[in-house]
Amino acid sequence: MRKQIVAGNWKMNNDLAQTETLITDLKNQTKTSNAEVMIAPTFTNLWQAYQTLKDHDIEVIAQNMHFAENGAYTGEISASMLKSIGVNTVILGHSERREYFNETDELLAKKVDAALANDIRVIFCFGEELADRKSKNHENVVGSQIKNGLFHLKADAFKNIVLAYEPVWAIGTGETASPEQAQDMHAFIRKTLADQYGKDVADSVSILYGGSVKPANANEIFSKPDVDGGLIGGAALQADDFYAIVNAF
Ligand code: G3P
Repeated sequence: MRKQIVAGNWKMNNDLAQTETLITDLKNQTKTSNAEVMIAPTFTNLWQAYQTLKDHDIEVIAQNMHFAENGAYTGEISASMLKSIGVNTVILGHSERREYFNETDELLAKKVDAALANDIRVIFCFGEELADRKSKNHENVVGSQIKNGLFHLKADAFKNIVLAYEPVWAIGTGETASPEQAQDMHAFIRKTLADQYGKDVADSVSILYGGSVKPANANEIFSKPDVDGGLIGGAALQADDFYAIVNAF
């Protein structure tokens, strides 16, 4: 049985006080599904969030990391530094990192290797632009991102990989992919994995959908056979909305 996961990507939101307030609100929510729950505060709030939630059923995860162990990389954070503050999962390859910080498939492959070498689970993000979908090139784009970022790995590495399909045109726009569009792409992703690593590996990997998931649409999207949960942006910043999504299975 694949893990069901709902992860909140807070992006560049919430100072320390706002983080503490939102975490208090999250702790007061009730989980009625079997989903693993994760939140990704900003770097400056990770330690406080970890300390507050270490005995609670919410995992604190990071939004990014560098591939180097340490050194002259001003402003960056390494895998071992995340590990040292109790962080065991990291989001890599988010479209905003790919776009605003020019993160290439090759760079992301190095980040994936560094995370796995430090026993950090990876939520690997990818997704097409609207122009790719309109030109019916979306499967080629997604397939290329997955292969270039992950297919250097051996099969057993995928026990620490979660995939997150986030069509760029759905992120922050309110233009959610239809449940059918999500299922079609997730099925393509799982077949791409199966062709490379076999059905057992493909069937074991959780594939999350991200892009304007809200309480009103989460259940229909999560009900699709190849959708194993969501990577949530805006709705993760409100505790009740976030848990309405957590409980939408
Ligand atoms: O990483 C999740 C994020 O990109 C989705 O954002 O606001 O469309 O839920 P949002």
